[in-house]
This record gives sequence, C-alpha cells and structure tokens, in this order.
Amino acid sequence: MSRFLTEAVKAVKKAGAIQRRFYGKPLQVEMKGGNHLNLVTHVDKMCEKTVLSHLKKAFPKHGLWGEESGRTGPKARFTWVVDPLDGTTNYSHGYPFFCCSLALLEGDKPVVGVVFDALRGELFQAERECGAFLNGRRIRVSKVSDLSGALLSTGFAYQVRETRYNLENFKRFILESQGVRRDGSAALNLCYVAAGRFDGFWERGIQAWDMAAAVLIAQEAGGVLSDVTGAPWTLTGENALLSNGLLHKAMLGILRNSPDEKNWGRRPAKKAALPAAAPEELPLFSKTAAKKKKK
Ligand code: IPD
Ligand code: CA
Ligand code: CA
Repeated sequence: MSRFLTEAVKAVKKAGAIQRRFYGKPLQVEMKGGNHLNLVTHVDKMCEKTVLSHLKKAFPKHGLWGEESGRTGPKARFTWVVDPLDGTTNYSHGYPFFCCSLALLEGDKPVVGVVFDALRGELFQAERECGAFLNGRRIRVSKVSDLSGALLSTGFAYQVRETRYNLENFKRFILESQGVRRDGSAALNLCYVAAGRFDGFWERGIQAWDMAAAVLIAQEAGGVLSDVTGAPWTLTGENALLSNGLLHKAMLGILRNSPDEKNWGRRPAKKAALPAAAPEELPLFSKTAAKKKKK
C-alpha cells in the first residue's frame, strides 16, 4: 500500500468518526444557492476541514480540492479531491446511506480512491493498476449480462425541477430491469457497482468530488465507464455511465433513445412546477390526479 493510500484511509476514517458522532443528532442545516434540495450541514464542513488539514500536513506540496471550500493549496502535479459527506440529504434525515469520498488526482486522472461508509464500517479502496478492495478483500463487478436481471441505480440532480432530467430514463430502466434504486449517494452507488451489488449506474449533474474516487475503484474492479452518451468519461463532464461491461451497450441503447437525453441542454433553465407542464408531458400520477378531480 502506498503512503498516499495509507494517509487517504486515515483521513476518511477521521471524517467517518465525525459522521458517526453527529448521526441522528440535531444538525445545523443550510441551503446552498437558495436551492432547498441542495443542503450542507455543519458535519459536511467539519469533515472537509478535518480531511483537508490531515492531507495538508501529510502532503504539503499537493493541491487540495474540497466540495465546500473549492481549490486551495499549491498548483501541483497531485491534487486531492474530497466529498466530505456524500449523501447529505440522507444524513440530515437520519437515513443511513452516506460516505466520505477522497481521491488523489495526477493531473485530472484519479490514481488513488477511498470511499468510507462509516455506519457499516465499509472501506472501498483502489490504487491505479492495483485492483479494488472492500475491507481488504478484492472486489469485482457482477456477471449479469441481461438487463432484465439487472439491479441498477441512479440519482436526480439538484436541478431536477428545472431540467426534469432523468424522469423518463428512470421509467424506462424500471420497465426494462429487475429494479432501479435511487438512494442518494453517488459515490456509494458507484462502489456498489464495483462490488457487484449493483450491475449499472448512470447520473447527470454529479461533480468531480462525487465520482473521482469511486470511478477508479469501479474501473479497478473491472467496471466499464463512459459518459451517458457513450463518449469517454471525464472528471469535469458532470456525468457518468458505469456498468459491469456486459450491460453497457444495453444501457446506452436505453439512454440514447430516451427523450431525456435528446432534450438534454435544450430545456429552458426556469423553474417548472409539475402541474404547469404541457398536458402530453404530464407524468402519469398527475394525469390520474387530474381525472379524479374532474369526477
Ligand atoms: C449528492 C449525492 C446524490 C446525487 C447528487 C449529489 P451530496 O451529493 O451523491 O446521490 O444524486 O447528484 O450531489 O450533495 O450529498 O454530497
Ligand atoms: Ca456528493
Ligand atoms: Ca457532499
């Protein structure tokens, strides 16, 4: 194990201890950018401070990039990128699915990744070309080759009200797969593909700190990664499609034919309350509700 990985593990464990200490207790919760879906708590901030000061001491010449504090430290070949608490909405509701995610980037390439689920005591880790591990045991992606037998996961970005993105994709994957989970931590979702618990994952609207550690872990576990259009994944592309490889083509097929992808980028960025949508775009539940009202 490299010193990079050893220190990364120490840092996420410190964050995990803070998350356990405050879990289920009253939190100071704020909204980011006036969006009531996008929360930050004092625990996010404490975790980020703790992880970054650990790294600063261990690697004073490395750059630092935190979700809450942005880019700090020297401009260097190596930069640490941290999501101090991935799953803040879950955490603030006492829903037990969240983690701390930390990656070391060489340029814009993740070379070390650790994701720590403090409640379950699950530590996912990888170094480039050294395999992926969960609590010290090698992990690999699943062998499910048919979408109808696949368990998938996804997420909805905090701008979902404006973009409506993923509602149609979600419906299509629900109808084609064995199930789709949406449980609010992109980093853990990606690691679950690495561990063979999920067979595929897609999401738009995720950031470098959500993905950097977990995509390395997933690739080291044999996962196939692209962006949601099938083009090569990039750190700053704000989206990912990850699968066990066997399902990649089928998942891309669904995404490419979905109106969500065709409309991506074309929607006006204004808030649209659901009932204000054009009638043919109304989701099923609204149509049913409208019919009931008429009676
Ligand atoms: C969020 C989670 C969620 C995903 C969002 C992310 P946060 O991160 O990963 O699963 O759907 O896109 O922003 O805000 O809890 O760190
Ligand atoms: Ca996150
Ligand atoms: Ca976060």
